[in-house]
Amino acid sequence: MQVTITVNGESWDLDVAPADVLLDVLREQIGVKSPKIGCERGDCGSCTVLLDRRTVRSCLVLAVEVEGHEVTTVEGIGADRLSDLQELFITLNSFQCGFCAPGIVLSATELLDENPNPDRHDVQEALSGNLCRCTGYEPIIDAVLAVGQRSGEVTP
Ligand code: FES
Ligand code: FES
Repeated sequence: MQVTITVNGESWDLDVAPADVLLDVLREQIGVKSPKIGCERGDCGSCTVLLDRRTVRSCLVLAVEVEGHEVTTVEGIGADRLSDLQELFITLNSFQCGFCAPGIVLSATELLDENPNPDRHDVQEALSGNLCRCTGYEPIIDAVLAVGQRSGEVTP
């Protein structure tokens, strides 16, 4: 089947099978490797991407469903300049192995788009579908909160 999808601003005409999932098409046909292969059943969040600015588990989305829609992976966030969120993740050493990082960047980006100054509970809830096996989440949550606090600062 032929589908046309936009990934990080670039349009792709692809030949896919009816059962191909977006995760595999991104990694194998387009060469975008940031969505990670984890549980492949919607539990871990490592394959998270934005579909029309909303997070989805790309292991659960059929490629044919994405026809005409816009996919953003972490390669499309901060391509020219790192976002404040990405900078704070680096500054606060929020990640260790980094396997979860692309999905968490996208889930936190969605949260901050909707709620620029979230509280700790908001962040915990927004990231509840993204498993991290290394960090205990605190340095990740702290970075997201710090972005919100920055956005709330009043410039003299
Ligand atoms: Fe998709 Fe785990 S690989 S949610
Ligand atoms: Fe290793 Fe999150 S930093 S899984």
